Amino acid sequence: MVNFVLIVILCFINGNLGSNSEENPINDKLPEDGRFNFTQLARKYGHHAMEYKVTTEDGYILGLFRIRGKNRRNKKRLPVLLMHGIADSSDAWLIRGNLSLGITLANSGYDIWFGNIRGNRYSRNHVKLDPDKDVQFWDFSFHENGYYDLPIIIDKVLKETGFKKLNAIGFSQGNTIFYVLCSTRPEYNSKINVMMALAPICYLQNVRLPLSYIISISPVLYDLLSDLGINEVANDNSLLNTFEKIICTLPDIGYDVCIEKIMFPFTGYDSEELEPSFVPVLVGHFPTSTALKSLYHFAQVGYRRIFGQFDYGISGNLENYNSTIPPIYDLNLVTTKIVLYVCLNDKISTVEDVQILRSRLPNVVRYIVSPRWMCNHIDNVWGKHMYDYLFPYVYEVLESY
Ligand SMILES: *[C@@H]1O[C@H](CO)[C@@H](O)[C@H](O)[C@H]1NC(C)=O
Ligand SMILES: *[C@@H]1O[C@H](CO)[C@@H](O)[C@H](O)[C@H]1NC(C)=O
Ligand SMILES: *[C@@H]1O[C@H](CO)[C@@H](O)[C@H](O)[C@H]1NC(C)=O
Repeated sequence: MVNFVLIVILCFINGNLGSNSEENPINDKLPEDGRFNFTQLARKYGHHAMEYKVTTEDGYILGLFRIRGKNRRNKKRLPVLLMHGIADSSDAWLIRGNLSLGITLANSGYDIWFGNIRGNRYSRNHVKLDPDKDVQFWDFSFHENGYYDLPIIIDKVLKETGFKKLNAIGFSQGNTIFYVLCSTRPEYNSKINVMMALAPICYLQNVRLPLSYIISISPVLYDLLSDLGINEVANDNSLLNTFEKIICTLPDIGYDVCIEKIMFPFTGYDSEELEPSFVPVLVGHFPTSTALKSLYHFAQVGYRRIFGQFDYGISGNLENYNSTIPPIYDLNLVTTKIVLYVCLNDKISTVEDVQILRSRLPNVVRYIVSPRWMCNHIDNVWGKHMYDYLFPYVYEVLESY
């Protein structure tokens, strides 16, 4: 267990070094799909991506992409919004190329929108704050992603398309933020027709080792890292990401170290779905910047066993919330239709925790257990054969509600 903690600390200590935006020469060693950005990937796989910028109430400038499927026979189809997971970006939906959900839906003619939350490679901008100099830029968690980022993204999609509702698909944190939004701004329930939650994340009290152990020591880790001045994690040009690109792409040993020894213990093992040749593509895109506070907020949800706002401690809570304890997100207010898609081998979004979520959400219209019993957390976006065990359900959901 100690080695996991060391790995975590090492990763984070290097998390915000070298954060200037110059091109990192290590990227030249990656294959095309590892180097390409969203627009280039879309083009390579046959689609033109449009880029939009939206600015949140609190000044963050977010990159939003759109691929309008070519074959738009059915103009009545609602637009589909895809929201990525933690320390990730819209690229997640394209890096499997022709086998990815983004390209597959685009080929079927859907009007697809790809959001990016504050801090990641497409949303590292603010009207006033400089992400490299101002620590306040990184003072956010999934709360702000749900409360500020998601509504402005949804409103932009509806404004551009002229629809009153959209369909949404969120992976991991990409569905947590919908529960935050719909409970804190209930008027958004009516703007979402159905939200399909892949690897649903809300309660985190049954996550497996070693993540559960890291959650249990997270208060100490957070204090330590904050004292070291670390606010941003996994900047694209950080030492962490540079080491990742060097070590993980070494023949044979790279896969063993990065995927078998580090990634799978957290996400669940499924080497069939993440083959060695995909790793050089993956490391070009994941992880990408996020806030340390956001990781800690998730850890708090885990050890407090409560889906609530960030816990600052008694005096901080009084200051922020005028209450000694942080407000709880009221899931009864999340009245929009929700489909839960869970994988049996997922060590982060466990069946037990999804059952708790399912019992507390008032409008779960479907609960789907992936037919692939080895399916783990990341198979939901990066799996090689998602067209087998995931896409049929996605089409069914998009066409039924
Ligand atoms: C992607 O890269 C191309 C070529 O460097 C650049 O012109 C384009 O602006 C980039 N797109 C985004 C969204 O960063
Ligand atoms: C993706 O699939 C399309 C349609 O089958 C094919 O024409 C294209 O060559 C494929 N692209 C790549 C890069 O494999
Ligand atoms: C804070 O809470 C107390 C007790 O609930 C209430 O009396 C007071 O008006 C609140 N203060 C503010 C600034 O909301």
